[in-house]
Amino acid sequence: MTTRYRVEYALKTHRRDQLIEWIKGLLAVPFVLHSQPNISYPEHSEGLKTVAADTYQRYAEIMRDVEILINDHSKFISAYSGNTISDDRHNVLKAYLSPAVRHNNQNTPGKSKLKLLVPSVGTFFTQLHLEDAFQYQNDRRFISRRRFVAPSFNDIRLILNSAQLLGLVRSSDVQLVTFDGDVTLYDDGACLTPENPVIPRIIRLLEQGRKVGIVTAAGYEEAEKYYGRLYGLLDAVHESTSLTPDQKQGIIVMGGESNFLFRFDPTSDVRLTYVRRSEWLLAEMRAWREDDIRELLDLAESALRACAANFNLPAAVLRKDRAVGVYPVNGVRINRELLEETVLVVQNTVERSAIGSRLPFCAFNGGNDVFVDIGDKSWGVRACQQYFGGIDPSKTLHIGDQFLSAGANDFKARLASTTAWISSPTETVDLLDELELSLSHS
Ligand code: IMP
Ligand code: MG
Repeated sequence: MTTRYRVEYALKTHRRDQLIEWIKGLLAVPFVLHSQPNISYPEHSEGLKTVAADTYQRYAEIMRDVEILINDHSKFISAYSGNTISDDRHNVLKAYLSPAVRHNNQNTPGKSKLKLLVPSVGTFFTQLHLEDAFQYQNDRRFISRRRFVAPSFNDIRLILNSAQLLGLVRSSDVQLVTFDGDVTLYDDGACLTPENPVIPRIIRLLEQGRKVGIVTAAGYEEAEKYYGRLYGLLDAVHESTSLTPDQKQGIIVMGGESNFLFRFDPTSDVRLTYVRRSEWLLAEMRAWREDDIRELLDLAESALRACAANFNLPAAVLRKDRAVGVYPVNGVRINRELLEETVLVVQNTVERSAIGSRLPFCAFNGGNDVFVDIGDKSWGVRACQQYFGGIDPSKTLHIGDQFLSAGANDFKARLASTTAWISSPTETVDLLDELELSLSHS
């Protein structure tokens, strides 16, 4: 199984995205009640059209009702400064979050109706136009015409993405788009080569004066390493005659989740220049002490080594300045269960230690490796926002493939921006075209 199928495969595992599963459950009711398995083509095609139109109405009504519940949830949060990230390493984050976010994180009376129904639900930075998004995806996926296959996890994931794009375009703005690397821009472990169709789409964003950040876990201190992974895009930006020099400065690379920042540099052979931490760290990040970082990584490394020994993993441990990981040697694959077990063991070990409450970290399953990074993508995205002069979460979109809570590194970006959950580089390209379409209609 390649990691690009992680989203589909996740369906079969015990871990679930509660909001998606809940919406899926709501749509399953009209699906079951209205499905007509005994009517057959072609003699009843008129009857089937009527059934499909009826089913469409039912699904659309449900999406409208969910849209209203989400609106109420957002109003509830702003009215009562509700508890928005309680389920998410509350104490660790509390120590590091900005005053505004911390303010939202106080214990307050009661919960929104949506929070009662879907306890893991977080904050929404914009409205979600679910009914219109349903119509858009239904026109492509024929969800309401299907009689044997119910609305699926992927149907709803894509509807939520569309609803988010509409929310950004109609009730906000898109000033910054951040991209995960592996599985989002290119296949897992591959490179962004010159023929990748995402390149003209990213150039289009820059031409429109929007900012772009590549926020990847891949953590290197040398610009050459990122050039090696991203050269197709970086060369295209360099060679573009339609982009102004200022627009070319609109692309940055954040590596190691939130550890290494590079800006575009037309004078460099590798198109990138390392930006010193003193120039971009968020105020809270300046409090991260080097000896704490070392202590956290020592603890994570010992837990990783214990897992490698315990599960007899054919793996080596790689220790870096801001990360530690296990990766398989000799091209073997480690099974998903052991990768996830390793993530959870390390996460648990660090979280229960004193150092785990002083410093944010991110342990994740990289598809065929497990890495622990200092910080996480919420910090990475927020640092990009600050670097570009303080872009608001409601005007930022992070696109990634890893959103299933445990061991998924894009999940953390939800604390800092709106998000879209894709399952392959092709879906990223489709999403960027859908964004362009929405922008042209707005
Ligand atoms: P992403 O999908 O762009 O976030 O990349 C994640 C992958 O980068 C991981 O699965 C690792 O294979 C690789 N990687 C290389 N260096 C690091 C590191 O320092 N931290 C985390 N992941 C790393
Ligand atoms: Mg990825």
